[in-house]
Amino acid sequence: MPMADGADKEKRTVKGKIMTYLVTGAAGFIGAAVAKRLTGDNEVVTIDNLSTGREDNIPPGVEFLKGSVADADLIRRLSDRKFDAVIHIAGQSSGEISFEDPVYDLQTNYQSTVLLLDLARKTGCKKFIYASTMSVYGDHNPPICSEDATLVPKSFYAVGKAASENYMRIYSEQFGIACTALRLFNIYGIGQNMDNLKQGMASIYLAMALSDHKINVKGSKDRFRDFVYIDEAADAFIKALGREEGYDVFNVCTGKATTVEQIINIIKENLPYDVEVQYSEGTPGDQFGIYGNYDKISKALGWKPQIGFETGMKRMIEWAVKDHR
Ligand SMILES: NC(=O)c1ccc[n+]([C@@H]2O[C@H](COP(=O)([O-])OP(=O)(O)OC[C@H]3O[C@@H](n4cnc5c(N)ncnc54)[C@H](O)[C@@H]3O)[C@@H](O)[C@H]2O)c1
Repeated sequence: MPMADGADKEKRTVKGKIMTYLVTGAAGFIGAAVAKRLTGDNEVVTIDNLSTGREDNIPPGVEFLKGSVADADLIRRLSDRKFDAVIHIAGQSSGEISFEDPVYDLQTNYQSTVLLLDLARKTGCKKFIYASTMSVYGDHNPPICSEDATLVPKSFYAVGKAASENYMRIYSEQFGIACTALRLFNIYGIGQNMDNLKQGMASIYLAMALSDHKINVKGSKDRFRDFVYIDEAADAFIKALGREEGYDVFNVCTGKATTVEQIINIIKENLPYDVEVQYSEGTPGDQFGIYGNYDKISKALGWKPQIGFETGMKRMIEWAVKDHR
């Protein structure tokens, strides 16, 4: 089991573990992948309310606290624990849901960050890593974004993530916590929730194609995104553990744009039956098209995407056909 960068054998505790991590949302897609990379040599604790995650997703060996990351009492109960890092991944990740219930979105994605940052401050935890999003950029022309692009969030979801980043910056400046915000672009791959039709472009279309042989696209087929394979996204979190000081923000992206039409074509080409495609009105706050520049994370953390979208998507389709449906 690989140790997190910077992990030190001398830190081995009485329980025989090297590091202790709080990874929120380990019953979900990204949280499970990150927690899995850390178990073994390290002690890993997760908080998850199972709102979109499943208990059987949580990797073996992870201590599971069922509850909400927005619950101040639950977070307070962790005040006597010592974490080497907090990796905050739990959250609701749908712009659409943030319009349906802005208060729920605020509590889950933003209040939770403040509660966990404050837990880190009070317990002397020196590292905080956060699952932020490319949604903070909004629409740009040209549509390729580096980290210094102006933030024009278009959904309450994106506002909450941008606010969380700013809280991290100030907690870092004021209290010396090394804070890293990872602006995840579209993460996809094996293990993605195929029952949630409100989050994850590739997984939504694939789930529809498998269950109904019909894909309903909300918005234009020309919209485009930057897709990052799950294993590589998890790797970015592990690499971020190597940061020892200050606040920084990194794109986690591939620098390549894939359109809705291209995604659908790959799905159609890899399924043994015809798939009908229908178009309906777009969802509020949806960005038209965006992709990212990954120079910064590549230089600072040595992270570089290797898996092309078609390769990753074929893996995902094979998994979904065999193991899911
Ligand atoms: N998947 C992507 O493409 C993507 C892109 C950008 C950012 N993100 C961010 O990454 C994070 C994880 O996304 P994911 O794709 O793994 O989603 P997911 O739904 O698979 O996982 C989220 C997990 O958090 C849990 N959760 C939700 N609200 C909670 C709460 N209030 N308290 C405790 N647990 C809660 C869910 O039960 C689930 O297990 C989210 O914060 C999301 O905003 C994801």
